[in-house]
Amino acid sequence: MAEWFEVARRGELPPGTMKRVELAGRRYLLANANGRIYAVDDLCSHEEVSLYLGCLEGDTIKCSLHGSRFSLISGEPLDEPATEPINTHPVKVSAERIYLLAKSPN
Ligand code: FES
Repeated sequence: MAEWFEVARRGELPPGTMKRVELAGRRYLLANANGRIYAVDDLCSHEEVSLYLGCLEGDTIKCSLHGSRFSLISGEPLDEPATEPINTHPVKVSAERIYLLAKSPN
C-alpha cells in the first residue's frame, strides 16, 4: 500500500536544486526543475549510480557516470547508454510542504 510522506519544506528546494530522501530503505530523488517538483528513484537504470550526483538540465536529470539524460516527467531515457526508464513518483505541495507518494514500510 502507498501513502503520502512529508519529505521536505518547499523552501529547502529552490529551482535547480535536488534533495535525496530515504523512505523504508528506498532512496528517492526530489528535484525542482523550473519551479516544478518531481520525484524519481535515486538510481540510474544503466548502472547502480546515484542520480543525485548528476545535474538538472531543464526537466531532465543527467547521470554523472555516462551522461544519459532521463525525463523527470516520464522517467524515459533520452540518450544512450541507458535504455530502461527510471521510476517516477507522484508529489504534491501543500501548505509549503512537499509530499511524496511511496510504498508504506509495512
Ligand atoms: S550509470 Fe548512468 S548512464 Fe551509465
